[in-house]
Amino acid sequence: MRHLLSAADLDLATATAVLDLAEEMQQVQSRPVKKLPALRGRTIVNIFFEDSTRTRTSFEIAGKWLSADTINVSAKGSSVSKGESLRDTMMTLDAMGVDAFVIRHSSSGAAAQVAGWVKAQVVNAGDGQHEHPTQALLDAYAMRQHFRTLGAAPAPGATEFAGKRIAIVGDLLHSRVVRSNVLLQRTLGGEVVLVAPPTLLPTGVENWGCEVTGDLDAVLGTCDVVMMLRVQRERMAGGYFPTEREYSERFGLTEERLAALKPGAAICHPGPMNRGVEISSAAADAANSLVLDQVAAGVAVRMSVLYHLLGSDEGAVH
Ligand code: NCD
Repeated sequence: MRHLLSAADLDLATATAVLDLAEEMQQVQSRPVKKLPALRGRTIVNIFFEDSTRTRTSFEIAGKWLSADTINVSAKGSSVSKGESLRDTMMTLDAMGVDAFVIRHSSSGAAAQVAGWVKAQVVNAGDGQHEHPTQALLDAYAMRQHFRTLGAAPAPGATEFAGKRIAIVGDLLHSRVVRSNVLLQRTLGGEVVLVAPPTLLPTGVENWGCEVTGDLDAVLGTCDVVMMLRVQRERMAGGYFPTEREYSERFGLTEERLAALKPGAAICHPGPMNRGVEISSAAADAANSLVLDQVAAGVAVRMSVLYHLLGSDEGAVH
């Protein structure tokens, strides 16, 4: 794997290998000494042009636990604020001998563009409203763990996702998480149901191969996972829905809706959560909420991704 730009870059064998290796990486998380020598001598630059808490920190932790040298660059404080172009910034850092960039940018397609410019390998950590492939992988990891705790092993040749219905609910229009999840589940075999008001549906959604509905209550009891997405106020000029209260009544995972979930169904949210808008505190903190499992999975999955990208024979020290 040279770059990870889209969840569609992953075929079933690679996606499964990433998830499986993440399981081994997760064991490191529970050790007192959290260090593997695998990426010693490799240099990873996390360059984030948009705000981030969990994605940036978990990529940094993942790189450090694999013994890579990880450096964080944020747009504020870099020459970008002096008017330098993205291309010049990336070429400058690349010229220093960086092995991989983990990039987040507000423009859809930015990571792919950077991959065309630099010699380093590139991981897309979110490009505008387009994709966020490592988020979809960590979601899949947390879901897979959850399905396993429920018992039933998959049929031979099938994945744990076969026959599972995953509702993705909310601001689909502005979400890169939904796009990457739809693409990854197409590969892994899960069935995605998209739930949103018409104003928050992306154009062309009818070609995504998913059931699309505006009626959350009609699908709630049929899904094995309900993934709530944040209402992305910062990407809205207003007017997408009447009021937050009304949005929450129709599309929020309220305390009342918790009781309507299918028994054993899991609740996911990529974070950051708007408690009381798309998700109630009762749902966020419920026993079947995977929110913190997703965060924990983020480190293990990103370790696995970095290892798959950079842990080549010449680079890896086992
Ligand atoms: C998401 C993102 O940035 O795309 N968050 C994340 O990476 N965990 C979703 C969001 O911002 O709502």
